Amino acid sequence: MTVTTCIFDAYGTLFDVAAAARNAANEPGRERFAAHWKSIASNWRLKQLQYTWLRAIMNRHADFWDITCDSLDWSLEAEGLGDDSGLRETLLNLYWELDAYPEVKDMLKKLKSKTINTAILSNGSPPMLRAAVNSAKIGKYLDDVLSVESVGIFKPSDAVYNLATERFGCERHEVLFVSSNGWDACAAATYGFRTAWVNRMGEPVERLTAKPDHIVASLARIPELAN
Ligand code: LAC
Repeated sequence: MTVTTCIFDAYGTLFDVAAAARNAANEPGRERFAAHWKSIASNWRLKQLQYTWLRAIMNRHADFWDITCDSLDWSLEAEGLGDDSGLRETLLNLYWELDAYPEVKDMLKKLKSKTINTAILSNGSPPMLRAAVNSAKIGKYLDDVLSVESVGIFKPSDAVYNLATERFGCERHEVLFVSSNGWDACAAATYGFRTAWVNRMGEPVERLTAKPDHIVASLARIPELAN
């Protein structure tokens, strides 16, 4: 079984969302946020994901940008910061100018030198993903950027994972799917992809329908796993 195609989740996998919120907490004049930033960042991500799953079950799709705004509003209000529109704008802007993790460029270059197809497959809307790819300057190492918006449902629906096999005309077992979200890696393994879970936070494996094939601490080992 040869890997022909490497597919990447975006937020938390290639793009460092947490560092962006941390940097915002260090800005002068952000003392109120600094006292609450960890729980806001954690609730923001949790609510964002919950809203994707709930909307999928309810069959009430909204794009990831609207969900990102709604989940931030919930999280700011929960910490008594719902009235700070400047903070809201600063945090939302982070999604348009994210850094990639330090190992990303080198890892993608190595995959391209092995003539492996590379693409993002993300819940993000096309404009959000375009902005993040441009901001991190990784566009030239990616063959495509695939968004759930073309099927109108979020991960972990099979309809989303189908986008990768359809785009590259490959079998499921030829794909190495890489995600820092344990649930995404497990769902992709269930779908039939080979999977690598980037377990940056040292979390337990999700008790879901399948386990990831590989568990790595960063993206640096992905090229050697893509064989
Ligand atoms: C994504 C989220 C799940 O990029 O991180 O799809």
